[in-house]
Amino acid sequence: MKEIKQFDVVILGGGLAGIYTALNIDSSLHVGLFIKDKIERGSSNLAQGGIAAEVVWDEAKIEEHFEDTLKAGSYLNNVEATRVLVSEAGKNIEKLLNFGVKFDRNPDGSLVTTLEGGHRSRRILHAGGDDTGAKIMMDLRAALFQRKNIDVFEDEMAIEILHNDNKALGVIVINQQNEEVYVLANKIVLATGGIGGIYKKSTNEKIACGDGIAMAHRAGVIIKNMEFVQFHPTGFYVEDQIGKTFLISEAVRGEGGILRNIEGVRFMEKYDKERMELAPRDVVSQAIHREMFDTWSDHVYLDITHKSKEYLMQRFPTIYKHCLDNGVDISKDYIPVAPVEHFLCGGIETDVYGHTSMNNLYAVGECANTGVHGANRLASNSLLECIVFGNRVAEDINKSKSTFGKIDVVLPDMVFTHKKYNFKDIRVEIRDVMSKYGFIVRKEDDLELAKKLLSKHYANLKKINVFSRYYYETLNMVTVALIIIEQALERKESIGCHFRLD
Ligand code: SIN
Repeated sequence: MKEIKQFDVVILGGGLAGIYTALNIDSSLHVGLFIKDKIERGSSNLAQGGIAAEVVWDEAKIEEHFEDTLKAGSYLNNVEATRVLVSEAGKNIEKLLNFGVKFDRNPDGSLVTTLEGGHRSRRILHAGGDDTGAKIMMDLRAALFQRKNIDVFEDEMAIEILHNDNKALGVIVINQQNEEVYVLANKIVLATGGIGGIYKKSTNEKIACGDGIAMAHRAGVIIKNMEFVQFHPTGFYVEDQIGKTFLISEAVRGEGGILRNIEGVRFMEKYDKERMELAPRDVVSQAIHREMFDTWSDHVYLDITHKSKEYLMQRFPTIYKHCLDNGVDISKDYIPVAPVEHFLCGGIETDVYGHTSMNNLYAVGECANTGVHGANRLASNSLLECIVFGNRVAEDINKSKSTFGKIDVVLPDMVFTHKKYNFKDIRVEIRDVMSKYGFIVRKEDDLELAKKLLSKHYANLKKINVFSRYYYETLNMVTVALIIIEQALERKESIGCHFRLD
C-alpha cells in the first residue's frame, strides 16, 4: 500500500526562499514544507554580508540599484525581473520587519547600511554585524512555527516530481522511516537552493546538491544559465581543507579591506583601477586567480589591520572569532583567502511570478533562474531575490486558491532497489572534476574531458534506481554538474563568471 499525503501547496526547502514563501501563503491553505535535512542547515543561515535594498522609496536610488545589478551581471540580466527585484525590495523588507526580523540599527533608530562590491552606495542591511542570514532565519523560523496551516517535515527528501501532461501533481518523498510517500498538491514550489556540494570547496554546506534543479530536469523542465557559477573571492584559506569553507564577507572589503598577494603587494589596481577591491565578484575572483597563478601560490591576503580591534569585534563578530580560533588575529594579521564556489546565478527558468515551464510548478531562490543576476550576481542581491520572488510566488498561489481541489493521479509504479551504497567515490570524483575543469578558468578541451567523465557516472547511476538519499543526492550532483559543463561548452565567449581561456 502506497502512503499518500495531500496538501494545497507543497514547498521543498527550508531556507529563506522556502520559509518566506510559506509565510506569505494564505493561512486558509494547507502547506507542507519538506526539508531534506535539519531546518537550521542550509545556505541562508550562512549569509554574512546582508541584504541589498533601498528601503525608503526614492526613484533615483532605486534606479541606481537597478543599474548596479545590470552592470554586475554584464547586462545579461532579465530587465523586467531586475526592475521587480529592486522596486519591491522596500515592501518586502517591511514584511521581514513585521515577521520579527531585527536588522542592526543606529543609535537614532535608523537602519545601519554597509557597502559591498559593485554597489555605488551603502544600501546593504545587516543583522548581528556579520550574522545576517542566521539572525533572519532564526526570527522567521519562530514565525513559521506559530503557523497552524504549515506542517514542517525535516529529514524528508523529495526525489521525483509527479507530473502528467506538463502539469505537476506532487512529489515522491523518502520519509524519516525510509519509506516512500506520495505527496500530492495543487501547487508545488521548488526552493531547494544551490549546488556548492559539487565542488571541493564552497561556502555552502555539502548538502547543497542541486536537488530541485536535477529533479526538474528529469521532469523535462527548462534549466538555463548554469554556466554562471559564482566564486566568492574571499573564502577563508586553510591548507588542504575540503568541504564547507568559512566565508570572509565582502563587507570586509566594503569597510576598507585591501587585497594583497603572497608578497604583501596590493594588486587590484592592475585589474580594475577604478573600483579596486570593490569591483564585482567575477572581476575580483578572476583577478585573485591570476595573481595566485603569477605568484605560484594558492591564496592571497585580505588586510583589514588598519581598523581597530574594538571596531572589528563589534562590526564582524563572527569573522573575528572564527579567524582568532584559527590563529589569525584580524586586527594584526592579514587574513589568508582564496576564491571558492559560492552561488549559482542560473537554474530553473522562471518568469516574474516564479512559474517554471511546467504548469503548477514554481521555483524560487537560488535554484531558480529569474534572470536577475545575469552573468554574475551583485553582492547581497540573493537574499533579496528570495523575499521579492517568494512573495510573488505566494501571491500568485493565493490568487488561484479557488481552483484547488483533490488531485487525481495514477501513481507510477517506481521500482526501487534497497541497497546501502553510499557512492562516495563518485561524489569525490564529481567534486574533483568540477574543481579542476568547471572552476574560474575554463577551456574547451577541459570541458570536453569533464563531460566525458561525468557522463560515464551519469549513465551508470541511471542504470540503477536505489531508494536512498545517498543515491538521489549523487544522481542530482552528477546531473547538475553535467548541465553546467554542457552549458559552459555552449557559451564560447567570456562573460561574467564564465571565463573562457580559449
Ligand atoms: C558576503 O557576505 O560576502 C556574501 C554576501 C552575498 O553572497 O551576497
